[in-house]
Amino acid sequence: MTSYTLRKGSPAKTRSDAVVVGVVKAGKGLTVAAGAEEVGEAWGRKLRPLLSSLGFKGSVGEVAKVPSSGVVSSPLVVFVGLGDEKDLSPDVVRRAAGGVVRAVPNAATLAIALPADSLPLLSAVTEGAVLGGYTFTQFKAQTAPTTPGVGEVIVLSPLARQDEASRAFEQAQQLADAVNTTRDWVNLPPNELDPERFVELVTEQHKAATKGRGAPKVGIEVWDVERLTEDGCGGILGVGQGSDSPPRLVKLTWDPADATRHVALVGKGITYDSGGYTIKPAGSMATMKSDMAGAATVVQTLFHVARLGLPVKVTAWAPLAENMVSGTAVRPGDVLTIRGGTTVEISNTDAEGRLVLADALVLATEDEPDEVIDVATLTGHMVVALGDRIAGVLGSDELVADVRTAAETAGESVWPMPIPAEMSERIRGSKIADIAQHDWVRWGGGLYAAAFLREFTAGLPWAHIDIAGPSFNSGGPSGHVPNGGTGCTVATLVAHLTSRAGTATEAESATDD
Ligand code: BES
Ligand code: MN
Ligand code: ZN
Repeated sequence: MTSYTLRKGSPAKTRSDAVVVGVVKAGKGLTVAAGAEEVGEAWGRKLRPLLSSLGFKGSVGEVAKVPSSGVVSSPLVVFVGLGDEKDLSPDVVRRAAGGVVRAVPNAATLAIALPADSLPLLSAVTEGAVLGGYTFTQFKAQTAPTTPGVGEVIVLSPLARQDEASRAFEQAQQLADAVNTTRDWVNLPPNELDPERFVELVTEQHKAATKGRGAPKVGIEVWDVERLTEDGCGGILGVGQGSDSPPRLVKLTWDPADATRHVALVGKGITYDSGGYTIKPAGSMATMKSDMAGAATVVQTLFHVARLGLPVKVTAWAPLAENMVSGTAVRPGDVLTIRGGTTVEISNTDAEGRLVLADALVLATEDEPDEVIDVATLTGHMVVALGDRIAGVLGSDELVADVRTAAETAGESVWPMPIPAEMSERIRGSKIADIAQHDWVRWGGGLYAAAFLREFTAGLPWAHIDIAGPSFNSGGPSGHVPNGGTGCTVATLVAHLTSRAGTATEAESATDD
């Protein structure tokens, strides 16, 4: 376990195994970034030729490790590129901090002297360090990692002794912990995380989070098959009926006394997506343990918001099922009845996400929240359109715009996509049911899926975030993002809810006048 300390101190005189120094491109050459000036001064005019011999370009995330030979107190200096000085931002330092903690995995103490002279920068450095240090080694038995990870990370900041800074430092760690737990859940193999086990994990976390004096009050409700049947949740039951692990639904509620708004979050929780009878090709199945990323995201967001004590009511809904093939599995041709009575003709059992979301969206809207946001690894189409680092966001224009703003604040990438009227016509194309789940026209499949979901949002302000691409990183680590589950969108939702907590609804401001 790594510990984190916030300190005000000289990076040249701080005793640690390694000290991290930012390097920016300024004017014609490279120069040491804010926060590490003293290290630059200690090296003096020899620094530029040194970086030049190393071929150091100063590009974002580039790392060079140099023995300090007594120039500064720490025996090792880790230079990290921050790009152009004029483009310096929290995003840049978050990425850089993420990369450096992986570059010195054996350091007992690591002092980070990156730019941290404002609260957003300090938070970003801290988040980057906690996120970049993430590893998932639970199932490494014989090949346990030989590097223990950094023992203590010391974040150096001129703001260190201010209360606001301590709070920002604490909250940044907590946010990163929420993201890292999301990653853990996504990374769990599907034989270790079926719907029932998912519920157990939520229940255990709920117990821990609400225990003791001053702990937040969070409500938890679990639907088993019997209750799902009573409540008419034919989508969740239909998708789950082919698996030996029965489906579930979990609802968490954070309802503080000072809340003036209610945001409902809904997350897709397919603990494994084989495709069902419309079975996936072998290659596409390999990463489908990650198909519950949306559910993990909304659960972790809710617990984090409760811990922060944000004055906004939040409900988080996680419909959970395993999409399998068996004699009891749903078939193409079946008709399912979603909660509320809408009938859906199934033509592709691999388009299962929209079916479990439909029930959960209907239940979520029955509470009459002010707005609904769903998060789902919904379509490969969105990955084709936007690549694997950008989430698509679709829905009500204003809420889509607000989600984009929140993503920008959080340092995550989302991009708006339309729901053309043509899609709403197509979902009405079923000859035997109210709506068609799918129609085998490949083009714009991510937009069709959103049009389908919109049917179940009761006309409320709604945004759908398709995270099929960015939720799982099949490649190598990059900045603060590791291989495997990324925990994307937790930070965006937290930023959005923070902004909702701080602004009254239009109706309220109108009565204030
Ligand atoms: N879980 C998949 C979507 C997915 C694809 C997530 C790639 C992550 C990476 C989803 O259930 C699915 O299979 N979607 C289909 C939709 C189609 C049948 C309309 C797809 O993407 O092909
Ligand atoms: Mn599928
Ligand atoms: Zn799926």
